[in-house]
Amino acid sequence: MTDQADELKRAVSFAAVDRYVRAGTCIGLGTGTTARWAIVRVGERVARGESIVVVPTSGATERECRELGIPLAALGEREIDVAIDGADEVAADWSLTKGGGGALFREKAVALAAGTFVVVVTPEKLVARLGAFATPVEVVPFTLRIVARAIEAAHPEVRVRRRGDDGAPFVTDNGNAILDCSFGPIDDPLALDVSLRAIHGVVATGLFPSALTSAVLVAESGGVRALGEPHARRT
Ligand code: A5P
Repeated sequence: MTDQADELKRAVSFAAVDRYVRAGTCIGLGTGTTARWAIVRVGERVARGESIVVVPTSGATERECRELGIPLAALGEREIDVAIDGADEVAADWSLTKGGGGALFREKAVALAAGTFVVVVTPEKLVARLGAFATPVEVVPFTLRIVARAIEAAHPEVRVRRRGDDGAPFVTDNGNAILDCSFGPIDDPLALDVSLRAIHGVVATGLFPSALTSAVLVAESGGVRALGEPHARRT
């Protein structure tokens, strides 16, 4: 990653924390190379004495929060005021593809529990329709082959995600596997999510419905801008 790309990720995540995180609240923090800058910013504010508690969306985010001395809460322990997370794709209607880092299940759980869900991205993540990025589908390992076959019956390109280092199957924080499914342009992400979750063995998909997103912040070379008007979560 270039320094410039990382600088945009830092700018958008810092802006989200500065705009949306209030002292004295509990927030959700996402996973990935963009959201990690939100962890850094929250760490700075906690170090200055602000009381902010975080529900992490992955083991990796939990570890980074611990290293920075950020207090943690389990999901359901506190009301989550706002959750901030990155995305792999943001469609024109604000539906999302997430899970490139494998944290989709917990990310969706935290986004659903939050009063406001803010998505932080760099411009290349903005697309007209989802689908160029393969959709991650989290699957109970016992059912992996039959789920892969069931999806392949309608959509031929399904790959078992593997770890980069040794090629062993990737394992999520929940002990599950991931199938990366190339569906091509997705007309109705919500309907596809529902149909995939109807297959026994599918735990979650990386398709986030547009109604879940409250605001999208995009970092560009000229600064950080909000995509349209923020609105109340609709799901
Ligand atoms: C993690 O599982 C993902 O959902 C990430 O939020 C998403 O992949 C974006 O990651 P980057 O900010 O690293 O591109």
